[in-house]
Amino acid sequence: MQDNKVQIFDTTLRDGEQVPGCKLDTTQKLIIAERLDLLGVNVIEAGFPVSSPGDFNSVTQISKIVKNASVCGLTRAVENDIKVAAEALKFAKHPRIHTGIGTSDSHIQFKFNSTREKVIERAVKAVAYAKSFVEDVEFYAEDAGRTDNEYLARVCEAVIKAGATVLNIPDTTGYCLPEEYGAKIKYLRENVKGIEKATLSCHCHNDLGMATANSIAGVINGARQIECTINGIGERAGNTALEEVVMVLKQHPYLNLETSINTKLLYDTSILVRESMGMPVQPNKAIVGANAFAHSSGIHQDGVIKNRETYEIMDPEDVGVTESAIVLTARSGRAALAYRAKKIGYELTKVQLDIAYEAFLNVADKQKEVKDNDIHAIIKEISKTSEVAKA
Ligand code: KIV
Ligand code: ZN
Repeated sequence: MQDNKVQIFDTTLRDGEQVPGCKLDTTQKLIIAERLDLLGVNVIEAGFPVSSPGDFNSVTQISKIVKNASVCGLTRAVENDIKVAAEALKFAKHPRIHTGIGTSDSHIQFKFNSTREKVIERAVKAVAYAKSFVEDVEFYAEDAGRTDNEYLARVCEAVIKAGATVLNIPDTTGYCLPEEYGAKIKYLRENVKGIEKATLSCHCHNDLGMATANSIAGVINGARQIECTINGIGERAGNTALEEVVMVLKQHPYLNLETSINTKLLYDTSILVRESMGMPVQPNKAIVGANAFAHSSGIHQDGVIKNRETYEIMDPEDVGVTESAIVLTARSGRAALAYRAKKIGYELTKVQLDIAYEAFLNVADKQKEVKDNDIHAIIKEISKTSEVAKA
């Protein structure tokens, strides 16, 4: 029987931060790392230490302050990368080296001008070398999404023998379908000797908008780690969004898969990352977008006012959003207007509401959104002829 705990491996500070425009300085990285630790992530990928002195310093400083999570540094399957990562991680309570190499035919031929056998040799050598520094070694088979399953299984078997504790199966180009990615994980679980000694990890990119679906397919099929970023930031169309996979698992308890994330901190963490990186989030972004819990059509608003669950599958408070928003537009109905008027202090009679609604539609047709100050003005007009009760 497999454990039902899914480890959350956050790579906001590595795969996320490598995006142009998302660059952070060490102080900003330390603030985010502290928040990720508080959020309850299991692993923080802090950077790629050999890539620059700045990144080396950030990984070192993060290693010193993180209290609970493992701190991880990325390397290529290159001795010097691994040595430098081990040095940067030396203060970490739980250090992890993340090393690996491309395994698809395209990577083997065009990136390395090499052969499948030589790539296995390099992978094994890298893992064994990393193991001489730390106990926890994660191996990534870059472009595993487009790697033939039989060869991928051989790579996995060889690196487990060399001591890898986690096997990262990246869909580097975001190409896989959820069924295909899930089947890949299942194939590895069923065909790799020694697989019970290692954790399979999903690392999905979002080029076709399927990173979350692929990661969920991965854990349903036996992976027990998801690599993700806050707000889904990352190369090209981004990585799997942490907030999405965590809430998918929470909202579907029959899957019997749990994470250790304190979901009430998701929204604030999203704001911290978008503000630090200067990378805004689209309003319709799942979980943390400005409209994720906003209702604007009259039919939906009427339902939500009667009972939130008519149009919401999760409680906004569970992700740290104080409440659902009823946005007033020309598509809103009387129920929404009465609701918002009450929120700002007015109890309208039926007749007053009819008059207010007519005035409201006139304003709404001219503006994208009717705000509280517009409602105050409408009610001030009505108060001239009939007294409006305080709510
Ligand atoms: O997408 C990818 O393959 C990666 C690896 C370096 C882990 O980010
Ligand atoms: Zn990646």
